[in-house]
Amino acid sequence: MTKYHAIRDQLLDRLDTMAPGEQLPPERVLVRELGVSRMTLRRATDELVASGVVRRRPGAGVFAVGPKLDTALSATSFTEDMRARGLRPGSAILSFERRAAGARIGRRLEVSPAADVVHVTRLRLADDEPMSIEALYIPEGTVPGLSPEDLENASYYDMLRTRYDVTIARGVQTIEPTVTDEEESDKLGVPLHSPALLFERTSWTAEGAVVEFVRSIYRGDRYQIRTELSVPQ
Ligand code: GLP
Repeated sequence: MTKYHAIRDQLLDRLDTMAPGEQLPPERVLVRELGVSRMTLRRATDELVASGVVRRRPGAGVFAVGPKLDTALSATSFTEDMRARGLRPGSAILSFERRAAGARIGRRLEVSPAADVVHVTRLRLADDEPMSIEALYIPEGTVPGLSPEDLENASYYDMLRTRYDVTIARGVQTIEPTVTDEEESDKLGVPLHSPALLFERTSWTAEGAVVEFVRSIYRGDRYQIRTELSVPQ
């Protein structure tokens, strides 16, 4: 194991005993305590910053970050997911438009390219902290009269159930690694090209109608996927 990996592991052990938001001792103290060079310590800390275990606040120091949020592979809504963790869900509308589906989205929504769709982008927040950006596409006929205000700090899935009497019966989701572009970094409050998870979800009603195609970018420093493994019999 290289020297800086060993230091990284020592820092990780130390962070295990710390509360989120607690500050690591200053660099000069750690250098002395761990008996390493400033450069090795920096390298180890940089790696922890990149993987989201600690956050560096310029001029203030390095702080412990809480554990990542485990996201399960189920058709849960962001709102339900955050509530189940005791976090306050929020959303800010970044854009809202009605337009023709076009070939690519039309294929995803199983409608013709000329069909009207509602396209909404939302910043999703947990206790006011930005977590993800979602680009949601809905066939216009599924949500007549939907306005941006309806979705501000509200759940789309709740709205489908209560206002449009639509229940999601089936979903398919893909997950890929990606990095944040300029706009995403700005909205999510992370450095340019930060690691992120790209989720693409399509959901259907029991009758087989598509009710959403969603492209969500989740912060890689705050999210991990947890899945129960079935054992082949
Ligand atoms: C998750 C899913 C999206 C879905 C959304 C609905 O974030 N990745 O595909 O559209 O939940 O959430 P809500 O009901 O809170 O708007």
